[in-house]
Amino acid sequence: LGEWSLEPSGSTDATNLQEAASRIRNTDTPVAFPTETVYGLGADATRGSAVSSIYRAKRRPGDNPLIVHVSSITQLRKLLRGGTETSGSIDELSDPIPPIYRVLIDQFWPGPLTILLPLPNPSPLAPQVTAGLPTVAVRMPSSLLALALIYLADVPIAAPSANTSTKPSPTTASHVLHDLSGRIDIILDGGPCDVGVESTVVDGLSSPPVILRPGGVSAESLRQCPGWEEVAIGYKDGPENGAPRAPGMKYKHYSPRAKVILVQRALDVQLLAKHSSSAANIGCVATRTWNAAIFKRICEQMRESNSPSTYSYPNYLQPGAERAADDSTGTLRNPSLARTTAKLTQVSIKRRLRSEPLRIWTVTLGTNIAQIARGLFAALRELDEIGVEVILVEGIDDREGGAAAAVMNRLRKAADQLES
Ligand code: TXA
Ligand code: MG
Repeated sequence: LGEWSLEPSGSTDATNLQEAASRIRNTDTPVAFPTETVYGLGADATRGSAVSSIYRAKRRPGDNPLIVHVSSITQLRKLLRGGTETSGSIDELSDPIPPIYRVLIDQFWPGPLTILLPLPNPSPLAPQVTAGLPTVAVRMPSSLLALALIYLADVPIAAPSANTSTKPSPTTASHVLHDLSGRIDIILDGGPCDVGVESTVVDGLSSPPVILRPGGVSAESLRQCPGWEEVAIGYKDGPENGAPRAPGMKYKHYSPRAKVILVQRALDVQLLAKHSSSAANIGCVATRTWNAAIFKRICEQMRESNSPSTYSYPNYLQPGAERAADDSTGTLRNPSLARTTAKLTQVSIKRRLRSEPLRIWTVTLGTNIAQIARGLFAALRELDEIGVEVILVEGIDDREGGAAAAVMNRLRKAADQLES
């Protein structure tokens, strides 16, 4: 960033960034901005009135603390020193950043990793940021737009994900608009997010250190770092009993309107048949090889099976054919899925015993973990917009590494039902 010139240069990006930064500094209305994980809803972390407006806009419970975003280590040190800048060189003893975090900061910042730090006393942060906890969660995002915004605002930015509480996190500006329209004034649009799931939250102040939320940085890669070999898993994937150490993990989360059924194996005809009896529109999120041939076979089997009714599939088209969304089948071009290799297809099946057809909407996320993470929330939102009653999601193996644990954690929290 030191190399950058962000003075108004006539470019709209620079002007928009300046405008967003000045609103963060001078107003209480939060600004939505992209990070590499998900879109955040940011406000000046040092002003209580600004931070409170985040909770209001998101309808977030007040006991769920926020992550503070910084754009430099100098800014972090200043925060940890209670807001005072010190000049001169920093040695082991004078560094307010606990030694346990230095290797993580070197390795993963800027990036999708949030660390818990002792809240300084006196604290420059508004008390609403930490919701009464003695620690503060901090991260340095790698998105250049996010870094530039924090740098220009010249204050630490408190930001949760920019969704309405309980909904899937937003990975495009249009997701933010959908949830928060009328409640915020500005969204900085940086296109779809790269990672697609939130940051990993770690507590290195306890021994052994603990992962409080799985995210963009995997447990395996943390375990490669000195001091982090024994890092423990401190979150539960299912509903939490009692108080989890990251307060946010206890709430219902990531859930679309539709009933979400997490399937621990490949989607198949029995599953579709079982859930089609109560629905006219079914959504599928596919994370395995899901191609035209497999889907055609499923439709054929459904037609031949007698239960719960019989089917024909007169409108079946190859995915890839461009079509508008109508009662027939086609591949829908969707901007929010554009960055991913995801494809949305629809098949209509005429049911002999019922007047309305069964429509099966499928988002294919591919088999690559990073790609699945990138498209997951968009897929759930997309199917919700279509108005499907049920979403069947093909689970993945959460030991596969990368963002796999984060993907399965979000899915288990979103799911109303599991099918093994
Ligand atoms: O990737 C991300 O982390 C995104 C982007 C916008 O940076 N932010 C995000 O924030 O996911 P949010 O508010 O949706 O999730 C923050 C999580 C919650 O589970 C919260 O309870 C936990 O971090 N958290 C925050 N401060 C904490 C603290 N002092 N101790 C324990 N958990 C904390
Ligand atoms: Mg969130």
